[in-house]
Amino acid sequence: MQAADSYFVDFRDVWLAYNDELRAQNHFAVEAIDLQIGRGEFIAIVGPSGCGKSTFMKLATGLKMPSMGKILIDGSPVTGPLKISGMAFQAPSLLPWRTTVDNVLLPLEIVEPHRSQFKAKRKEYEARARALLQKVGLAGYEDKFPWQLSGGMQQRASICRALIHEPKMLLLDEPFGALDAFTREELWCILRDLQAEQKFNVILVTHDLRESVFLADTVYVMSKSPGRFVVKRDIELPRPRDLEITYTKEFTDIVHELRGHIGALRKAGAPIQQ
Ligand SMILES: Nc1ncnc2c1ncn2[C@@H]1O[C@H](COP(=O)(O)OP(=O)(O)OP(=O)(O)O)[C@@H](O)[C@H]1O
Ligand SMILES: [Mg+2]
Repeated sequence: MQAADSYFVDFRDVWLAYNDELRAQNHFAVEAIDLQIGRGEFIAIVGPSGCGKSTFMKLATGLKMPSMGKILIDGSPVTGPLKISGMAFQAPSLLPWRTTVDNVLLPLEIVEPHRSQFKAKRKEYEARARALLQKVGLAGYEDKFPWQLSGGMQQRASICRALIHEPKMLLLDEPFGALDAFTREELWCILRDLQAEQKFNVILVTHDLRESVFLADTVYVMSKSPGRFVVKRDIELPRPRDLEITYTKEFTDIVHELRGHIGALRKAGAPIQQ
């Protein structure tokens, strides 16, 4: 057990209703979330559509404040949108009129303290963006426009954009959902390597159980109505993990086990398991 202040993310009995009317009806999008994430931990969240995964992300980055309960990030209570996080979503959402490198630079033009130094430090920032693009296999595409890139390349660029300001926490909501299986596995490895090197926290929402087991230290299963965390599964597979591990019995057993939990949730009420 870690001391409470050593958690990077600490949700204490957090409930969220999207508006007053829903709250008056006791209709919460997520409820009773008690969840602690250690520094540098990689967690994945799986669960049926509409169970509250994106809502959890909004809470974790301060875009929504809880109706009840408390959220601490990096030891401080969350009071508004956080600068220490980067986000990437299912659709890469790059700006079509900017080149790849200029898309990656975007957060530095918006987020302080970079914003006020952007002009003076532009060269240094651009070198950082180009190095990051190279790391994810986009050397040679830095000055192309998003429409000249494949879906997988665009998603790589949007991960670079989420990481350019060196956030302590990376939030990924179904980032690889739209990609083919080969590209997806390539991006798993890129994310694995970036995280091993830079040690940022990751919260990954995914519908792909193999993805969750390959990447995460801990997988959480959420149930729908009520939106609660019902299973916590530590993934003890040793690191660094190679794609070969996904063909081992150890790996597929965990995937099966999680599949079983989700199947049970779809049939009946949710038992609470740790
Ligand atoms: N802005 C909103 N106003 C009111 N209700 C909302 C709002 N956004 C989400 N909800 C409700 O909150 C619940 C959880 O939604 P959320 O988007 O977090 O689900 P999800 O797990 O991310 O689903 P998916 O897998 O489809 O992305 C749903 O019942 C949804 O209808
Ligand atoms: Mg969602």
